[in-house]
Amino acid sequence: MTTEWTLNLKLLFAVTLCGSCLISPVDADQEDWTKRAHDLCSRLSVTEKLSQLNTPAAAVPQEQGFAAFNWWSEALHGINNQQGGGTIFPQPLGLAATFNRALLRHVADIISTEARAFNNRQIAAGGDPRFLNVFSPNINIFRDPRWGRGSETYGEDPYLTSQLGVEYVKGLQGNDSTYLKISATCKHFAAYSLEQEDGITRKAFDAQVSDKDLQETYLPAFEACVREGQAASVMCSYNAVNGVPACANPDLLQTTLREQWGFGGFVVSDCGAVQATWWPHKLTEEEAESQAKCLKAGCDMSCTDYGKLKEALEQKLVDESEIDRALVRSLTIRLRLGMFDPSDAVPYSTIPPSMIGTQDHIEAATEAARQSIVLLKNDKEGADGHALPLTASSLTKVIVVGQPAVQTELLFGNYYGKPAGKVTSPLEAVQAVVGADKVAWQPGPHIVAGNAEGSIDDVVRAAEDADVVLFFAGITMLNERECKATDQAPAWVPFLEGEGLDRHDLNLPASQLDTLQGLAARTDAKIVVILIHGGPLAIEWLQASPKVTAILTAWMPGQGAGAIADVLFGKVSPSGRLPVTFYHANYTQLVKSASMDMAVWPGRTHRYLQEPALYPFGYGLSYTAFEYGSPQLIPARMRRNDMALIEVSICNTGGMAADEVVLLIMSPQETATRKLNTLNLPKQSLRDFERIHLQSGEHSSLQMKLPLEHFSHAVTDSLGRTSVQAIHGLWKVQIGAQSILLWLGPEGLSVAQPEGGQLQMT
Ligand SMILES: *[C@@H]1O[C@H](CO)[C@@H](O)[C@H](O)[C@H]1NC(C)=O
Ligand SMILES: *[C@@H]1O[C@H](CO)[C@@H](O)[C@H](O)[C@H]1NC(C)=O
Repeated sequence: MTTEWTLNLKLLFAVTLCGSCLISPVDADQEDWTKRAHDLCSRLSVTEKLSQLNTPAAAVPQEQGFAAFNWWSEALHGINNQQGGGTIFPQPLGLAATFNRALLRHVADIISTEARAFNNRQIAAGGDPRFLNVFSPNINIFRDPRWGRGSETYGEDPYLTSQLGVEYVKGLQGNDSTYLKISATCKHFAAYSLEQEDGITRKAFDAQVSDKDLQETYLPAFEACVREGQAASVMCSYNAVNGVPACANPDLLQTTLREQWGFGGFVVSDCGAVQATWWPHKLTEEEAESQAKCLKAGCDMSCTDYGKLKEALEQKLVDESEIDRALVRSLTIRLRLGMFDPSDAVPYSTIPPSMIGTQDHIEAATEAARQSIVLLKNDKEGADGHALPLTASSLTKVIVVGQPAVQTELLFGNYYGKPAGKVTSPLEAVQAVVGADKVAWQPGPHIVAGNAEGSIDDVVRAAEDADVVLFFAGITMLNERECKATDQAPAWVPFLEGEGLDRHDLNLPASQLDTLQGLAARTDAKIVVILIHGGPLAIEWLQASPKVTAILTAWMPGQGAGAIADVLFGKVSPSGRLPVTFYHANYTQLVKSASMDMAVWPGRTHRYLQEPALYPFGYGLSYTAFEYGSPQLIPARMRRNDMALIEVSICNTGGMAADEVVLLIMSPQETATRKLNTLNLPKQSLRDFERIHLQSGEHSSLQMKLPLEHFSHAVTDSLGRTSVQAIHGLWKVQIGAQSILLWLGPEGLSVAQPEGGQLQMT
């Protein structure tokens, strides 16, 4: 069937689309580094070489520079140094809610400064190097809202994740032309996003993923991390991908990563993932054989142990040259970290311990938290305003409810160190604004029913004549196994979500909802809910209840949690946007979490969801108002250019200076040749975003990039081959509530005007 459009098309310019992959340029210095790495490698015995392929790499005493080096450190949102003193930024999902590239770069720059300072302090005290290689960022796609580690990621969108991941890697690795500030690891490669379902654990899970979903959803952030971010390292994941464990997967580790993307760093396994290829993945009969397969496939280092490689070597399952290949790759990075050079040659070796946890760093953590907070609900109250912001001077009694308001470790997320100095709790921050004598705290319910410390009656009694109740609800993540192991979690905190554990539903714990409903039924108190949580919550009752006058999510804000008071009392306007869809509660009954298919009904993430969301991706209210003009295609005429611009004017028409996050969302409307519904395209895609600051009354004109590759999608043909193709046809480009229709044809891109308001099809 032929589709033909009656459109008033103005074809402005011709374009060529480049669908093929570009090989990233080889760094000129890379050859020298590799030469030196080969030389270092040649000085080691086989046993010594093997001792370097594990995350705790042993010292080689007779060779200068070969100190023991633990490649393992974490820096998802701060260095996880248990000795303390570092800065804790918001958990990454909160960082993503800022939609702010520059902020991610700045945060990572501070973290790598602190990492170097910790290292330098340790070296000065005669210790081994540490914190110079980090297993961060986590750039997996938060594809299912139940996933226990979703809060470690930048959310559900491949473009947002790619953009923020690149900034984070660049901030960690620094911009010195010779040395790496620290080395970053993009994890977990690939298609990792499940802890357990139906008794299948993450180490046994075989992710069944279509080529289309790999190309369009699960791989783009890794490609960006390698090509643009130039990450030193990639971590292979626990799961198998289409039957082959990721750490023993030559298609992923060799063909895709090295041959297609030009990756020149090293691959490290997730901790225990090499062992998992043998058990429970049962890749081979003998464990030595599995380890040989990992090494051959391109897993260059094992966290924690490549202990069977010696046996594999003796049995000739691997060759010494393959061991050398793996070792040279990681030694190259070790060299680029400056570990084998005199410290006065390495610029980062002078970063002093006084750079750890500085006032500037703590202020940056607070600013990140401010920008991450998302206002979900803000009821109108009479003619003169909304529930928020609160006016401190008019309050005489404020009740704060909930453990997270006082127990600051509940605000930190996972993989963090001990923060610098004393951390201001949300309660203290509220008291500082309103006056301590006017603010009382109630513990309220613990996060699991039956473990309640404060009863509903206590909370109701306290709230009876209060002006406002600030209720801290949610699911905190100290219930994380690894935190438990390091004694970070108070003993009473139950384990509901985190590494190794996915949720079964998206509801608030019943004890919290009971207490909130008791408050609503038995008092006239105005309730403001502050959510502290990892993944999205199905807060349908909160959304609907007229007694809950405002809801904001602060995610896991880190040590700058005082930012919550800044937003509540209007020192700043909330400006964060949801980097994940908040689904209705029934979502978890509709789709199995083990299904990797993005289009599985009712659809995963904002790109595929067919049902209404409770709060959609990109949602977030402000205290001020922004008006958008009609988007324009710029320039009106250009020839053979692959970059169009969309210009839009934005005016702050409200009464308060504020940040605004501007999202450019594209959706295919109709295609020129094949029927749209046969192409299985995402219904919408985020293609650009900016954060701007406007004073009250100020307006600004913003140009957003629209390269023609943004009109492309992965398409699978009738033979099952998948390729990225330009989709010719009608597209809607949406910015705020405004949109423009564009037509992409073989001749180029133009503004499309439906004739008589109606598109005709024959
Ligand atoms: C390199 O990074 C530092 C620290 O972020 C920054 O101050 C400096 O301007 C950067 N230099 C270049 C050339 O980008
Ligand atoms: C899920 O719940 C929402 C809200 O109640 C409703 O709109 C939607 O139709 C439900 N979906 C299904 C498939 O039942």
